[in-house]
Order: sequence, then structure tokens, then C-alpha cells
Amino acid sequence: MKIWHPFTQEKTAGESLKIIKGSEVYLFDNQGKKYLDMISSWWVNILGHANKEIANAIYEQAQLLEHVIFAKFTHEPAEKLCESLYKLLPQELEYFFFSDDGSTAVEVALKMAYQYFYNSGNKKRNIYINLAGGYHGDTLGAMSAAGVQSDYHSTFSEFFFQTFSIDFPENKENEAIAIEKLQKFLYENNENVCALIIEPLIQGAAGMRIYSAEFLDKVVQEVRKYEILVIFDEIFTGFYRTGTMFAMDQASEKPDIVCLAKGITGGFLPLALTVTTNKIYETFFSDDWKKAFIHGHSYTANPLACAAACKTIEILQQKKTIENIKQISKVHNEMLLKLNNVYNKKRSLGTIAAFDVENPKIAKKIEAYLLKNGVIVRPLGTTIYLLPPYCISKEELMYVYKMVSNFKNM
Ligand SMILES: Cc1ncc(COP(=O)(O)O)c(C=O)c1O
Repeated sequence: MKIWHPFTQEKTAGESLKIIKGSEVYLFDNQGKKYLDMISSWWVNILGHANKEIANAIYEQAQLLEHVIFAKFTHEPAEKLCESLYKLLPQELEYFFFSDDGSTAVEVALKMAYQYFYNSGNKKRNIYINLAGGYHGDTLGAMSAAGVQSDYHSTFSEFFFQTFSIDFPENKENEAIAIEKLQKFLYENNENVCALIIEPLIQGAAGMRIYSAEFLDKVVQEVRKYEILVIFDEIFTGFYRTGTMFAMDQASEKPDIVCLAKGITGGFLPLALTVTTNKIYETFFSDDWKKAFIHGHSYTANPLACAAACKTIEILQQKKTIENIKQISKVHNEMLLKLNNVYNKKRSLGTIAAFDVENPKIAKKIEAYLLKNGVIVRPLGTTIYLLPPYCISKEELMYVYKMVSNFKNM
């Protein structure tokens, strides 16, 4: 018997670290060693590990109703969750479709966008626009949507549907060039374009690549000229990761569809949402069964996950959480400036800090050095990022920066 781990080259990865418990920002292994989780366990444990309030919310819900089919049935935790999210999202985003993880939230968004046009009698729109290098998940549609420029999925490129990739704007000058190329593409192909899908303000898996809100706004304005739908993938950026509840809160333009997952349950249980507008919903609302959105998963809107999400949203809005988020951002800004010259391209956005090293080998060495010193990071190529749970204290974060600074490349 052998467990086959995700996103892992089993031959070179070495042995997996066996974790037996978690508490706040720490994970504990079976040898009694503790580690600061600086990747929030693949970006989901935004409030730290084993949060007692969330654990209790799940416990209480489990005594009452653990699961129920969600087609033609509903339940309070799902309704409560959608009501609280509705108050936080732009007003037009008012129809909530549940699924289980980020990739499925993206699949739903892509299918919804296509069927919106199909149901409206327009069957020509089957091209998606993305921002080059983006990442939207590992299912076929999500891989396709990211396009061939994404390094992760080229093995499967023969299955991909057609996309157009906007150049990633490395600087202001490039922004104008990227927009010009987009304009040209749209001028020639707009009638066949279904939707833009984009990670707002920062591309996570591509290497924590930050771009401006102005660029995001401009891109959205360009596609909107042709009635193309706009999908924001806030799976990574949502729930204060970028310093505001949603990354889109820092931009003027809002999407027709937003995808939420990862931090939504504080890392306790899988859950995702694809949220959209009345304009889209009403094209599915019909006497014709075929116009319905025929998509669902067995665990859709699991009540335990919904209860965890309700509690997570509640904690996220508490003064203490918001103050801590601001403090993380402040420490990042101050400490990045002080990092030595092993590190370049220092950048931060909200609770995310990132920097690059010369090559992936050095990044791997830093990962091993930090692990030895009780800090978990997971480099993306040459990029090292620090993405703490929001409960991290100033002292704990300063310790991480001290360890990063202490690394000597030998
Ligand atoms: C922006 C973005 N979209 C989608 C996904 C896929 O989410 P999941 O891993 O939950 O399927 C990820 C995961 O890292 C992501 O960062």
C-alpha cells in the first residue's frame, strides 16, 4: 500500500512529514517538533489550525444534520452562509451556486458563462480569455481556461478549448502593449468570445505575480465593450488574503461571476461557491428542463462545511482579526526592505509577501533550511512566499523573517 500524493514528483520528493496535530499557526509532527505554517496549508487555513470556535460550530451542526441532498432540498447553514456573503459581495452578485473546491467552482463558472449565451440562442461563443500564466485548478476545464502558457498542465494541451492569453504586465509600459493586443484580438474575434477569467490583482500559483487594479479595470472595460462575461477567480485572493475581504474591493470594475473556495471554511472542510447575477440566472430560469444548469456534486453545500464557513466569515469580520491582518501587512512591508541581497523582486500585497532567488535550487535549499528551523514554506520555482494564517503574532512573523535572513547560500 502506498499513498500517491498530489502535486508531487514521488521519486524526488523524499519522505512526507507526518503531522499529528495543529494549533493556531503551528503544526506538530510525530517527533514532537513544531512548525510555523507559512503557507496556511495550501492557502486554506486562514485562521490557523484547530480553531476552537469553528470546530464547535461543526460539532454542533453534526449533531443536527450532517448532510442532505441539495437538489430540491435546502438547509439553514447554506442559507445563512449565502446571506452573510451577500452582504459582503457587490450587490449584483446574488445567486449562489455551491460546489466542493476551487477547481469545481471554476468549472461551474466556465459552464455557466457558456450556457448563458447558449440559452440566449447564441451558440458561437466558445473562446475564453485569460491572463497569461494564470492558474485556475487541475480539472480539464480549469486547466484549459488557464491556457497553454501555464507551465503546469502542458501534458494535456491537446484537450484544451480555445483561449486567448493577455500578456502579463510586468510594468506600466507593458500594460499599454498588453491592452493594445487585447483590443486587436477583440476587434477580430469578439463574437466568439464567451468570458474573461482572471485572478484579480495577483496570480498565486504563477509565482505571486502582482499587477495593478488599474490594469484589471482596463481589461474588464475592454471586454465589456463586447458583452463578454467577466469571471473573477477569487479562490486564492478572497477572504482578506490581499488585505481586503475580496481583491475586487480594491478595483472599480466588478465581475459577472466570482469563484470562492479555499479559506471559506477556515481550512476545515471542502466547500466552494460560484456567485453570479440576475442577468445570468434568468437565462436558466425556464419551463424547459434543458435550460437548467445541470451540474451538481454529491457533497454540494454540505451542512458541516456551511456551518464552518458561517463561523469563519463571522471571525473574519471581528476587530481583532482585521487588526491582525493589518499588522501582518505592516510587518511584511517593513521586513521585506531589510532582507539581504540573496533575495530580489521583493513584493507584498495584504498578508502575502514574496521574493525571488537566483534559481530553484537555492529556493529548495531555503525550504530545507527553514524546515530545519521550524518554518514551513513551499517555493514556486524561484519564488518564496510567506502566507501566514491571520492569527500569527508579530513575534512569530519576525522569527520567520529572522530565519529567512539567516540563510547563507553555501
Ligand atoms: C486562483 C486559483 N484558482 C483555483 C484553484 C484551484 O482550487 P482547488 O485546489 O481547491 O481545486 C487554485 C488553487 O490553488 C487557485 O489558486
